[in-house]
Amino acid sequence: MFLEEIARRRTFGIISHPDAGKTTLTEKLLLFGGAIQEAGAVKSNKIKKGATSDFMEIERQRGISVATSVLAFIYKNKKINILDTPGHKDFAEDTFRTLTAVDSVIVVIDVAKGVEEQTEKLVEVCRMRSIPIIVFINKLDREGKDSFDLLDEIETKLGLRVTPLSHPIGMGYDFKGIYNIWSKNAKLFLEDTKTSKGNTVSFDNLEDPELERLIGTKSLETLKEELGLVAGVYPPFSQEEYLDGALHPVFFGSALNNFGVQELLDCFIDIAPAPLKKQSEERLIKPDEKDFSGFVFKIHANMDPNHRDRLAFIKIVSGTFERNTPYLHVRNNKKVKFSSPNAFFAERKEIVDISYPGDIVGLHDTGNFKIGDSLTSGEQIHFKGIPSFSPEHFRYINNADPMKSKQLNKGIDQLMDEGVAQLFTMSMNNRKIIGTVGALQFEVIQYRLEHEYGAICSYENLNVFKACWVQPKDEKNQEFTDFKRVKQKFLATDKQGQLVFLADSSFSLQMTQQKYPSIKFHLTSEF
Ligand code: G4P
Repeated sequence: MFLEEIARRRTFGIISHPDAGKTTLTEKLLLFGGAIQEAGAVKSNKIKKGATSDFMEIERQRGISVATSVLAFIYKNKKINILDTPGHKDFAEDTFRTLTAVDSVIVVIDVAKGVEEQTEKLVEVCRMRSIPIIVFINKLDREGKDSFDLLDEIETKLGLRVTPLSHPIGMGYDFKGIYNIWSKNAKLFLEDTKTSKGNTVSFDNLEDPELERLIGTKSLETLKEELGLVAGVYPPFSQEEYLDGALHPVFFGSALNNFGVQELLDCFIDIAPAPLKKQSEERLIKPDEKDFSGFVFKIHANMDPNHRDRLAFIKIVSGTFERNTPYLHVRNNKKVKFSSPNAFFAERKEIVDISYPGDIVGLHDTGNFKIGDSLTSGEQIHFKGIPSFSPEHFRYINNADPMKSKQLNKGIDQLMDEGVAQLFTMSMNNRKIIGTVGALQFEVIQYRLEHEYGAICSYENLNVFKACWVQPKDEKNQEFTDFKRVKQKFLATDKQGQLVFLADSSFSLQMTQQKYPSIKFHLTSEF
């Protein structure tokens, strides 16, 4: 029973450059999975263009992002958990953290735009961790790039070895359907399918005269030629290679028009991995181990400023998580139990008695959890792989109301635990620096400090190019001592107390590296 529960879980994330169709595809997967009845039910969690200083928009987005953090449903006896990833690039760090909790991903690419910047960054993180990736090329109802050119682009720009598991029949105005290489049949779309699952007709045999009648002799010839080319050029699908992150299936379709979504979902539940093993600092943890272990990958503050409690999202790695059972919060070395853990379904959450590996539970927390914390049945386990990356923007944060310094410090502390931004403390004078991925977060922090903690802050510009985590070859050697003395003005510590060098330009970073060759400078906190 326990093993069956693990085997039937599929926990994954959908990633894309904004506007490629992530929200639409998510919604259509829910629709085909029977989790929602009509299109339009999943709200977009993206921050609307031009609304960056509209705080109602930020609050709206936060509200939605709780509701869509995990969208779970059962399809053909598989328990599907879709983990939501923010599309806005200023929240890229949230997405990186969510990727530590997925077992596979689907990458959505716009057929006209091809591989875009945000896709490259996100896929690189997946590739580094060998996460199995399926590519969905979307918006085939529009004129776009040639399918073979796109496959090339995915191979060169994303560095992914691909194998198409479907092939489009026409494109744009001429888009007629999909040939499903995985199940070896052609599916044509007979009428406007935008609002319903639509009418389709399937052909298992390309020689069927009805198929030729419907798409025309020329289209059929082109299809046969192209399928021949696919078979000749691309490696055959191998599940083993896909699971190793070495071969990536590609699907074509149009999420908006429900083309190719069912094919994607049906193949996905067959091939995508069940919960995977996870490396901890101590050992490799397997999902089928009896004892529970899990880690916090996301913390969400309560929207209501009068209730300071937060929701910590835990990915279950091994064993079962049960309600009212004491577990060890490893960092605090304290036993904690939870009377109302939340499980997530499409658009709703409910209290759950037991959860299995692959599942996400939401735990109410009054400020004890930090991102990356482990919970276990008792073993000292520290999970790896939630590094911080160097922020892109840095500012001093100052207290603008001396009467409220306690509130300010508490607010900063809790927002950092949530992972909104990173805090550095200058070694020389203890001044606090906030580092963020995008400029938007400074406004979010200022707004939330005021509205949730009653504290007022101001910022002061600071010229920092990158934060580099410093790794000396030997703590005691002369070179490291010299480095600390000479560069004192540029040194800070992160929240974990790790030493960080704040380089003010790429040139000064290079010079410093040359001058102190025994010291390593890392752009992430984990090395
Ligand atoms: P995102 O989450 O990746 O940012 O993208 P989202 O799903 O919001 O889609 C971005 C836009 O692309 C939306 O249009 C959406 O309707 C459209 N879209 C998604 N899939 C397809 C497709 O298969 N074909 C075509 N032609 N369009 C598609 P919008 O005008 O920005 O928003 P909306 O007003 O339609 O919601």
